[in-house]
Amino acid sequence: MNLIYPGSFDPITYGHIDIVKRSAVLADTLYIAVLINHSKKPMFSIEERVELIRQATSDLANVVVITFEGLLVNVFQSYPIDAIVKGLRAISDFEYEFQMAQINREMDLRAETLFMMTNPEWGYLSSSLVREIHSLGGGVEQFAPPHVVAAMNRKLEER
Ligand code: COA
Repeated sequence: MNLIYPGSFDPITYGHIDIVKRSAVLADTLYIAVLINHSKKPMFSIEERVELIRQATSDLANVVVITFEGLLVNVFQSYPIDAIVKGLRAISDFEYEFQMAQINREMDLRAETLFMMTNPEWGYLSSSLVREIHSLGGGVEQFAPPHVVAAMNRKLEER
């Protein structure tokens, strides 16, 4: 079974890595699909996000990092994927994820979504919160791996 874990990953955090590690155990191949979203102004370019994910998952032989634009269901036609995997952090995630899962199946019956409960340790985490804490001078070492924190520090220095 091949799974796809989609997201913005701007940047990847320990919360994402928890879902990746646990999904990779279940999958033959786990595709991490990074959304190219022209309407958002991300902290990291698509190439930078891919590289940060690659480094964070270099110990997982069955993980493949890809990028996509447009609809997630279209990726099903380009890769041998059996299901989408998403992490659920809180009840507040449920309604939106429920809607997305249903719409995706409406568009392509094969597009099943499997939900994994996020480790409670990371239940409050989101990439935008990590970016905000970092931009206000807070430490983010407990939320993301050292190479991600270093990349965030470099971004801040560039500004
Ligand atoms: N640990 C830590 N953070 C997590 C997490 C976890 N387990 N799960 C989710 N998050 C965070 C994400 O980092 C993100 O944070 P941010 O908003 O601060 O960046 C937030 O929670 C929301 O996560 P998610 O719902 O996965 O959003 P996303 O922007 O990362 O990804 C896509 C959304 C890419 C899955 C979705 O927009 C998509 O499929 N787009 C393609 C278009 C499409 O097909 N749409 C559906 C039909 S309309």
